[in-house]
Amino acid sequence: MKILAFESSCDETAVAVVEDGRKVLSDAIASQADMHALYGGVVPEIASRKHVEAIAALTDRALADAGVVKEEIDAVAATYAPGLIGAVLVGLNFAKSVAFSLRVPLIPVHHIRGHIAANYLAFPELEPPFLALSMSGGNTLLVDVAGYTDFHLVGATRDDAAGECFDKAARVLGLPYPGGKPMDELAQLSAGGVYDLPRAKIEGHELDMSFSGLKTAVVNLAHNAEQTGKPLDRAALARDFTQAVSDELVPRTIRAAELCGRRTVVAAGGVAANSFLRADLQSACKKAGIMLYLPPLRLCGDNGAMIGAQGYYEYLAGARADWSLNAYATREIDEPVVAYCNP
Ligand code: KG4
Repeated sequence: MKILAFESSCDETAVAVVEDGRKVLSDAIASQADMHALYGGVVPEIASRKHVEAIAALTDRALADAGVVKEEIDAVAATYAPGLIGAVLVGLNFAKSVAFSLRVPLIPVHHIRGHIAANYLAFPELEPPFLALSMSGGNTLLVDVAGYTDFHLVGATRDDAAGECFDKAARVLGLPYPGGKPMDELAQLSAGGVYDLPRAKIEGHELDMSFSGLKTAVVNLAHNAEQTGKPLDRAALARDFTQAVSDELVPRTIRAAELCGRRTVVAAGGVAANSFLRADLQSACKKAGIMLYLPPLRLCGDNGAMIGAQGYYEYLAGARADWSLNAYATREIDEPVVAYCNP
């Protein structure tokens, strides 16, 4: 079954053709990051307009790269939540019109479910159940994935997402947007151990996280150095900051796997590209006797193939949308997919 999949929840327009949920026939991406870098972060209105400009040509490219004609497409999948509402609406409405004109089913896909499903594309043997740690620019979640469409949220950030925290910390250190990768590179220049940064604990909710105190601590250190003229060891701060993020995420992931009785952990999302986090997850999982799946770097960030992968399993579970399907800026991962009957 060939699915044409659309992703437009933030600043990447992405269209892919995926066969039977596991085989990527094409994966076309148009990133707007350079444009948003001028403003130091994503400007929602610009993101929506850029999606409009890119999406038709990108769809042609995805079909051509896959070597299929549109009549061979069996279903259309699209991100319907969560994300920047204007941005999601562009991809979703384009997907609706494609599904309508081809007379094929329209499958709504939750963006974070897609990030997790990116792992199915890289690891043919991977099947639920497993514990997923999803870390992106807008969300940071611990999810018990009991089945392909059976998700249980077991922990989450109470405030900022890990990716947002990386981007803000990078900004005060003078690094370009998106800040995750340059922070990673800067942190590699230091062994750290210079700055004492806070770790959060949420009373009675051991799997929940908080990143806003950490973000504020880095911002204050940078501003203080600027105002007093004291030197700032930027590389050490990047390294210590990354360690603090890892200390929030890694032990909670192992604990969540224990509590859910899972022996497999799957990482997902843009922040899963971080080299220190990957190393820490690897050693913690090894110590705990847990099998770890880390997505290849190209599948960590937003892409259309991940939506095609999850779309396939949502389709098998019966998820179909009609033309009234709306986009949602927020929607929990364990809420049932909005299922309508095709007219
Ligand atoms: O999953 P993603 O591409 O988009 C969302 O769905 O949000 O995640 C983007 C986030 C950004 O905050 C970016 O700075 C971060 O992932 N990121 C990283 C790294 N590469 C990207 N964070 C830490 N280390 C990295 N190497």
